[in-house]
Amino acid sequence: MPIKRIAINTGGGDAPGLNAVIRAAVLAAHNRGWECFGIRDAFNSLMLPEQYPEGWLLPLHRETVRGITHLGGTIIGTSNKSNPIKFPMQDDKGKIVQVDRSDDIIKALKTQKIDALIMVGGDGSLSIANALYKRGLHVIGVPKTIDNDLDETVITFGFDTAVSFATECIDRLHSTAQAHQRVIVVEVMGRYAGWIALNSGISATADAILIPEIPYDISKIADKVIERDRSGRRFSVIVVAEGARPVGGDFAWLEEKEKRLGGIGHQVAADLAAHTGKEARVVRLGHLLRGGSPTTFDRLLALRFGAAAIRALDQGENGIMVALDPPTVRYVPLDKATHRMKTVPLDCDTMLTARDLGIVFGD
Ligand code: F6P
Repeated sequence: MPIKRIAINTGGGDAPGLNAVIRAAVLAAHNRGWECFGIRDAFNSLMLPEQYPEGWLLPLHRETVRGITHLGGTIIGTSNKSNPIKFPMQDDKGKIVQVDRSDDIIKALKTQKIDALIMVGGDGSLSIANALYKRGLHVIGVPKTIDNDLDETVITFGFDTAVSFATECIDRLHSTAQAHQRVIVVEVMGRYAGWIALNSGISATADAILIPEIPYDISKIADKVIERDRSGRRFSVIVVAEGARPVGGDFAWLEEKEKRLGGIGHQVAADLAAHTGKEARVVRLGHLLRGGSPTTFDRLLALRFGAAAIRALDQGENGIMVALDPPTVRYVPLDKATHRMKTVPLDCDTMLTARDLGIVFGD
């Protein structure tokens, strides 16, 4: 069936580059004579129509996507609480239950004569994309996340911006750490993968990097701090991934029920102060890593992904994710792209480089 109308959905945590994907997809679609719409606030607008009197579909014209390549966020909105397969609803006894509302989505898209859906998201949104594809929807996935934890693509857009900003922050913290002869612990996002911590930590000359892939022994980090003190470098900068944890210990949760990671930096700082007798301070970069303008690398990657998603549709592809496999963008089945998380391989070149530079990981 020839494509005439498509919808774009951005789901999960935002990442710099989402608007560049939208712009490229919209222009490439219009150049083929297709109509384009955005789904407002991920599937929330479709699931909760009473909250969206303006409707759930936002027409995306050429003018709508003018001048947005460099903007952070997403002009169509997002949500990480809109999984239509497990949508939280009240049953007749007032209890919150999870309801599979994929049929509502398929029906709504059909009613609006939408021929295909472009789902831009991380593992959560792409798993939803895969489920909708298996229920008969025409779907193309686009990989997004600052965490870079999606498999089958060399990199996701948003990651470079997050790492670049984290690097700048860690650079800035060196001088104040040195001036006060303190330990500064910098906690970065990344969920259960250490990519942001590793890449920013090594680039900004951290003395220790704690990542989820290597449960840490705090005494090994303390030894490094003490060794630096003895050699006259009386300050240390430690980068900690939010998903890091001590050997035999648990993750630090901001909110355990919702599995929101955060706070391990405070634990590391307190433990280091106790082990070394030094003053320690914590900086949690958190959502700063998701904000701001995408780097050139992320803009270009996002534009390439957006245009590739439209080419994929034009070529009759379905149930795939566009993926970076330099020098090209290839198509990977959604099944394969979502089957596991991409964590840091302990024998990868970046890890070996960090160890060669004397950075400690707490193992
Ligand atoms: O997946 C992106 C991410 O920013 C993670 O690094 C972090 O754990 C999570 O999202 C935070 O999500 P929220 O927007 O719910 O705070």
